[in-house]
Amino acid sequence: MGKKIAIIGGGNLGAAIAEGLVDTGFSEASDITVTKRNISTLKGLQQKGVITGTDNSEAVRGADVVVLAVKPFQVAEVLAGIKNEVIQGKLLISVVTGVLISEMDGILQSPIPLFRAMPNTAIAIGESMTCICSRNASAEDVSFVNDLFSRLGKVVTIDEKLMEAATILAACGTAYALRYIRANIQGGIEIGFDAATASLIAAQTVKGAADLLLRKGTHPEQEIDKVTTPKGCTIAGLNEMEHQGFSSSLIRGVVTSYRKIARD
Ligand SMILES: NC(=O)c1ccc[n+]([C@@H]2O[C@H](COP(=O)([O-])OP(=O)(O)OC[C@H]3O[C@@H](n4cnc5c(N)ncnc54)[C@H](OP(=O)(O)O)[C@@H]3O)[C@@H](O)[C@H]2O)c1
Repeated sequence: MGKKIAIIGGGNLGAAIAEGLVDTGFSEASDITVTKRNISTLKGLQQKGVITGTDNSEAVRGADVVVLAVKPFQVAEVLAGIKNEVIQGKLLISVVTGVLISEMDGILQSPIPLFRAMPNTAIAIGESMTCICSRNASAEDVSFVNDLFSRLGKVVTIDEKLMEAATILAACGTAYALRYIRANIQGGIEIGFDAATASLIAAQTVKGAADLLLRKGTHPEQEIDKVTTPKGCTIAGLNEMEHQGFSSSLIRGVVTSYRKIARD
């Protein structure tokens, strides 16, 4: 029998996780309960057979696995409210940005397995990059949580100290990639394409380039070598981008985002 999963906080992320777990067959819809204070936005999940409610304690009581998906400032209150239900035999996964395992532990005071998972918005289409860390988890718990998020994209296990860096590279990274695609669309229009055609070409080209690395396990420069004919147009354009600070500006952007998250 599948594990019962309570998702506390049925917003963008919580609802996307519930939908993905049902659509991929990881869970029966009736094994998932999603809570929020106003459940009128969860009609789509209700139609799939997912149980929805406003009572976090009741949802957690009937669950084997609790997914915490509220905003960071809501964590203390929500955890305090379910503290008595989070008992031995259950497992808690927080997808909340910036709240440490030790902070959750301080509220829950329970030796249950605690996980933090950092997905990105592509979780809505089953293409997330999700970074995971844990405390007190058995190999079986780790395998279960990896399987769960593997249904929703790719998974990597990291140390908790890298969770902020994961937020930058994987979650903010979606925005960086989209801005790169947008710039290509703008360039594409200038050299003759209409906006819709330029968008399709730019997005599919980036998807294909990423898949080359993911499927072949190659380094970007190996794939770039295949496109750059001596004295050709690709290397001329690439070198001009580098003269204008392309790689440097991206690296500086990543590091600036990281400094911001580490400081705030
Ligand atoms: N979006 C992303 O791509 C992403 C990626 C990685 C991590 N995260 C993290 O995931 C968390 C959720 O993000 P989000 O974008 O899904 O935010 P969101 O859409 O605002 O979802 C939060 C949900 O929590 C519900 N909620 C608030 N108080 C509650 C309570 N006491 N009991 C039960 N539910 C409650 C809210 O609904 P009501 O107001 O109706 O209660 C809301 O639907 C955040 O901590 C964020 O940092 C998000």
